[in-house]
Amino acid sequence: MSPSPLPPPQQLRVLSGIQPSGQLHLGNYFGSIKPNLEYVGKSGQSIFFVADLHALTTVKDAEILRKARQDIVLDYLACGFDPEKAIMFYQSDVPEHTELSWILSTVTPMGLLERAVSYKEKVEKGIAASVGLFTYPVLMAADILLYDVNLVPVGRDQKQHLEMTRDIAIKFNNEFGETLVVPEPMIREDTAVVPGTDGQKMSKSYGNTIPLFGDEKVIKKAIMGIVTDSKDVAASKDPETCSVFKIHKLFLSEQDSKVLADRYRAGGLGYGDAKKLLFEAYLDHFGAMRKKREDLIRKSGFVEEVMKAGAAKAKKIAEKTMERVRTKVGLGGM
Ligand code: ADP
Ligand code: TRP
Repeated sequence: MSPSPLPPPQQLRVLSGIQPSGQLHLGNYFGSIKPNLEYVGKSGQSIFFVADLHALTTVKDAEILRKARQDIVLDYLACGFDPEKAIMFYQSDVPEHTELSWILSTVTPMGLLERAVSYKEKVEKGIAASVGLFTYPVLMAADILLYDVNLVPVGRDQKQHLEMTRDIAIKFNNEFGETLVVPEPMIREDTAVVPGTDGQKMSKSYGNTIPLFGDEKVIKKAIMGIVTDSKDVAASKDPETCSVFKIHKLFLSEQDSKVLADRYRAGGLGYGDAKKLLFEAYLDHFGAMRKKREDLIRKSGFVEEVMKAGAAKAKKIAEKTMERVRTKVGLGGM
């Protein structure tokens, strides 16, 4: 099927959902946060929400969830999210998400959910096979369809969820008449997979991360612990296969990354020194953000204010969609 034409940038509505499920790392930053924040200003409206209801499928500790919800907002604010220019809110503050999710579940075929790869993968990893975990994609469809969103930028891992959202929207529109905007996924195929300290994909689940925030000593230790081959200082090194270089490159312009690659190849740069250079690049890039985060923590009540204002704005949009939906299915209206 050919994609429907997107509106011009000034009318584009872009939505990003972020699960509050642990400390953010460099993979999250370069693979998700940075590209998502770049849409603010390039689109008519950018909406970010913290998918705390989704997190309930895996996080079973109230204190942990409470902290993770707040931490992710602090992280985004520190990374440059501007509440004046975009909306951010907690999913659970806008009850229309669960209401629409229920209505959508009544048009969602079982077979569609049974094909969900992420459900199977999560169950294989040992996560309890709850009904909520199974219907996760329906809630995600509600998150998106509630806001008449045109574009949803996500990583490759979310591609199937986005396809399901489109299928559910089309199914609803076929049954009840044109009601929901069918969104276009924006899959970031080009974002390199950021390697972790062991060379595999950086991921919380592999314990190989370099955190964005938190104790500087922990970050330095993680960087100094990146696994390399055992070539000595004088030996020529291959930047293309070296995790230290692959991570360092993310901080550099194309030109500077070529210069650094040449230093690896020339020999004379030991891995210890290469890692120190990476740590300096990390501090250069994140120093100001780390400071901002510390300042925000001290601004008592600020996160709550931002999220309350965001939820009020989101609710206005969500209510309009729900009015349309309720009328179409016969739950009032007309
Ligand atoms: P984790 O694998 O640590 O649990 P998540 O699945 O919560 O990370 O990731 C949130 C988003 O961050 C993903 O949708 C993906 O786009 C991005 N992301 C995570 N890890 C990486 C990585 N190593 N490289 C690039 N992007 C990543
Ligand atoms: N499932 C997404 C993830 O794990 C989070 C998410 C929930 C989401 N609802 C969304 C992302 C709506 C984009 C749009 O990363």
